[in-house]
Amino acid sequence: MQRPWKTDVAPSDITPESVWRGRRRLLQGAALAPLALGASPLAHAALDNQPTGPVLPAQRNTEWSTNEAVNSWQEITTYNNFYEFGTGKGDPAQYANKMQLSPWTVQIDGAVRKPITLDIDDLRRLAPLEERVYRLRCVEAWSLVIPWAGYSLAHLLKHVEPTEEAKYVVFTTVVQPEAMPGVRSNILDWPYVEGLRMDEAMHPLTLLTFGLYGHDLPAQDGAPMRIVVPWKYGFKSGKSLVRIHLQSTQPTTSWMRAAPQEYGFYANVNPAVPHPRWSQATERRIGSGFFAARIPTRPFNGYEKDVADLYKGMDLRRNF
Ligand code: MTE
Repeated sequence: MQRPWKTDVAPSDITPESVWRGRRRLLQGAALAPLALGASPLAHAALDNQPTGPVLPAQRNTEWSTNEAVNSWQEITTYNNFYEFGTGKGDPAQYANKMQLSPWTVQIDGAVRKPITLDIDDLRRLAPLEERVYRLRCVEAWSLVIPWAGYSLAHLLKHVEPTEEAKYVVFTTVVQPEAMPGVRSNILDWPYVEGLRMDEAMHPLTLLTFGLYGHDLPAQDGAPMRIVVPWKYGFKSGKSLVRIHLQSTQPTTSWMRAAPQEYGFYANVNPAVPHPRWSQATERRIGSGFFAARIPTRPFNGYEKDVADLYKGMDLRRNF
């Protein structure tokens, strides 16, 4: 995310990529297969780049997965936005390991017949885990392709039986001041709050996410549980959730509060509607090299046929 006083390209946008170039090639194609490692320097580069953390098996869902080349583990876990840990792209990888991940419970309440607080292990077991390879398009005009593991949020929402009052879902993410240097800044009101309309939250593409690359989510990517909404700009996909609240009114999210002219409630990826300070027509795929050609951004991040119906009759310029 970019605040009005920041320039378009931060130093952190450039440095890590020179390191990643080359490494990406090693993992493409063989992304989910075990690597046969020799003693060459290249093999050591690949070793750096291997997924770590507890294994989290998930069955690939081909219907909801793109065939595009996935980004490497290294790219996905070192180029992050998680402002609680700082605004640099490398800050989350550096500091997020201080976050306390256990015990972890999530409160699901509000306009539901069966409010409940669930332990993270029970949440993981609530429905079969699927691997879904989604594009993630950040509002800052870069993108990644990520093999997530999770299940449709709809499973959890049905479990708590929403009432007729439930028109919106509010996601609240954790605040741990001792572990999170970023929450001392007033760049956002903490906790980080995001929201969806009920029909968006119930859409099968909306993924309650516990892992990536067949392992538990690394802290910097939103451990132990986050939401992923692939047709919206990445800021809608709140990390490290502690509460899911259903209500009748549209919430004001953290980014709407911080810069209402720049970040709207809907935030559907839309190449035809520029951000007030930069174009959204194209994007830079992380790992493709800083000078590589930018790729065109697609309406709804390429998920148009799946989700465009949700917005029939709406003016998407006004509802940005
Ligand atoms: N969630 C929290 N709690 N804090 C954040 O700063 N950043 C958002 C989103 N979720 C953010 C967050 C933004 S702007 C993006 S682009 C994605 O996380 C990035 O997810 P990734 O780092 O796993 O690629």
